[in-house]
Order: sequence, then structure tokens, then C-alpha cells
Amino acid sequence: AAQTSGAARKRLDMNEYRERLEARLGKSREMMRVVLNKAKSNPKRVALAEGTNEKMIRAAYQMQEEGIAQPILIGNTKRILRKAEELGLDFDPTIANPRDGEWDHYADRLYELRQRKGITESEASELIRRDSNYFASIMVETGDADAMLTGLTHHYPAGLRPPLQVVGTAEDANYAAGVYMMTFKNRVVFCADTTVNLDPDEEILAEITKHTAKLARRFNIEPRAALLSYSNFGSVNNEGTAKPRNAAKLLQDDPEVDFPVDGEMQADTALVEDILEGTYDFAELEEPANVLIFPNLEAGNIGYKLLQRLGGAEAIGPMLVGMDKPVHVLQRGDEVKDIVNLAATAVVDAQEE
Ligand code: ACO
Repeated sequence: AAQTSGAARKRLDMNEYRERLEARLGKSREMMRVVLNKAKSNPKRVALAEGTNEKMIRAAYQMQEEGIAQPILIGNTKRILRKAEELGLDFDPTIANPRDGEWDHYADRLYELRQRKGITESEASELIRRDSNYFASIMVETGDADAMLTGLTHHYPAGLRPPLQVVGTAEDANYAAGVYMMTFKNRVVFCADTTVNLDPDEEILAEITKHTAKLARRFNIEPRAALLSYSNFGSVNNEGTAKPRNAAKLLQDDPEVDFPVDGEMQADTALVEDILEGTYDFAELEEPANVLIFPNLEAGNIGYKLLQRLGGAEAIGPMLVGMDKPVHVLQRGDEVKDIVNLAATAVVDAQEE
């Protein structure tokens, strides 16, 4: 009998697990549906820097088939076509081969942009031919593509540096940052910065908060931002806790900021309504925060990964905010669905240019 009840309990656990998983995926699919539908209404050209990569080719096929984006695979034409055939993908992809003579003007443009940053003419030519991250960045910068994706085969900083150097930040931005959208059963939170700025000061934190709030609206979510720390509203006062506190103040005093924001606060204060409404009923947030701004990269990167692996959240990202054109740098090991989701986000971004 003990065995039966054990097995029954296991079945129950499994059912509960499945239900939770379905609910969570339901939320994440619902969020992505908003973006995928927006993307399909006006699919833009997305340059895929790692065009010979199998996952990129599969993702390109899916984007094209579903009308989410017009992918441009960057790389050796023969290799890409051979791989597509081996994968059994029946499509006629748009390919840009950096070794074709027709792209010499990209080297000229790179030289023009970077000659006073230590790049010589021959180096520019070499970079365009050999480093597809530079090629894709110039493609976006010159307007031959509307967005760019890279990162599957590089360390994150190596994928990020060329677009930072070539595309740069938007007019209203000085800093790029990486945002993850984390979806749970009944809630969605945006976490930043999870991938770029090692130790942002209070002004950078304030800027990142604004970019992240704007991104949340793109997913039809009204932002409520919390500047996170290990203290609540001055309960510990030192340089570390002052940084998010001052960032919150900068945002509250900024006439452009049209969303509730407060801090510094602990993560549970930000997320638990009873704490917010009880002990800290003076806080500007009346409901739990859905934009979580971490005080530094260690906290942000560790935090989102804990939510994903222990909290069971579905993660979409990293979405790069603050750039002049939509550029996203994937993580090594990301899957085809991650690539397609980020491409859709980039397309929606590009539609608003
Ligand atoms: N926002 C916008 N532009 C930036 C930023 C930023 N945060 N940081 C640097 N830049 C610009 C610089 O101004 C410079 O432009 P310029 O050459 O036109 O003057 C260009 O980028 C390159 O700057 P460098 O100083 O050469 O690059 P740096 O060594 O500062 O590297 C980088 C920048 C790559 C973002 C670095 O800060 C970094 O490695 N960050 C951490 C990345 C990381 O490891 N993330 C965690 C893992 S990723 C994951 O888990 C998905």
C-alpha cells in the first residue's frame, strides 16, 4: 500500500509539474505571440552573422516560412546551401558572402568609422572579410539590413564589441544593456542589466531602467520598476546601497518618466505585495514590480539564471536595449526557438525605427 501511495504521489507530482509547466509556457507563449504577430505584420530584414551555423540556418528557415522576418544569412554561399540541403530545408535563402568582391564598400565604411580608433585600411578590409560580426554590423549601420543577430559561436563580449563599435547607442542613450524577460505562471518580470555593464553608476542604472521600461511596453506590459539592493529604503546606508537609491530618485525627478519606480529595495519587497503594502506603504509602487534593475552585473546575471533554473521561469533574451539599431547577441548554446524569438523582437524594434 505504501508503494501504491508512493507511486500515486509521484503521479500527482508529475501532474502538478506538468500543469505548472503548461501554465508557465502558456504565459511565455502568450507574451511571445504579441511580438510574433507584430513581427509578421511587417517582417524586416535580419542579418544573421553566423550564417553557416546549423541552428541559424534552421532559424532562418522558420523565420522565412512563418513570415516573421526576412533573414539574411552571412557566410559562404556554397556552404550554407549545402547545409540547408543536408538539413532537408527546402528554401531559397538570401545570402551575403563577405568574400564576394561586391562588399568592398563595407570595408571603406568600416575604415571611415574606425580610422581614428586605431583601425587601418587593410585591417578594415580584413575584418569585413573574416569577422562576420563586423560585416553584419556595417550591414545594419548602412541600412542594408534592419537588424542583426549573433553570438551562438562566440564568447558574449566578442559578439557584442563589433556592434557597440559600429552601430553604437541610440540618440537618447549612452549605454546598452541586456534584458531578460522571465515568464512565470502568472507573472512576467524584466531583469536588467544581465549581460553588459559590469558596475553601472546611478546615472547608468537610471538609463537602463528607462530602456527596460520601454521594452516592457513593447510586450504590452505596463512597467513598474524597482531598483534592487540588499537594503530597503535606506535601512543600510553605504556607497553600495546609495547607488540604486540615487538612481530611483533621478528617475522620480525625471519629468519624462511616466511609470512608477522606487528603490532601493530588497527583491522580496519588490515582488511581494504584502511587504510593499504593509511595511513600506509609502513606496511609489502600489503593485509588485515587473521591471527589476540589479545593482551590478554579478547580481543581474546570477539573479536571472537562478530564476530560470530554480524558479522555473522561461527566459527570453538577452534583448539588447539602448542600441541605435536592433542588435541582439545570443548566448552560446541557445536553441532555434531562442533565435527566432529574438529575431521577432528585433523585427518589432525595427518597425518602430
Ligand atoms: N554601452 C554602450 N557602448 C559601450 C558600452 C556600453 N555599456 N561599453 C563599451 N561600449 C563601447 C565603447 O564606448 C567603445 O566604443 P568606441 O570604440 O567607439 O569608443 C566600444 O564599445 C568598445 O569598447 P571597449 O572599451 O573596447 O570594450 P570594453 O572592453 O569596454 O568591452 C563590453 C565592452 C564587451 C561590453 C564589456 O563591458 C564586457 O565584457 N561586458 C561584460 C560582458 C559579459 O561577460 N557578460 C556576461 C555574460 S553574457 C551572458 O550570460 C548571456
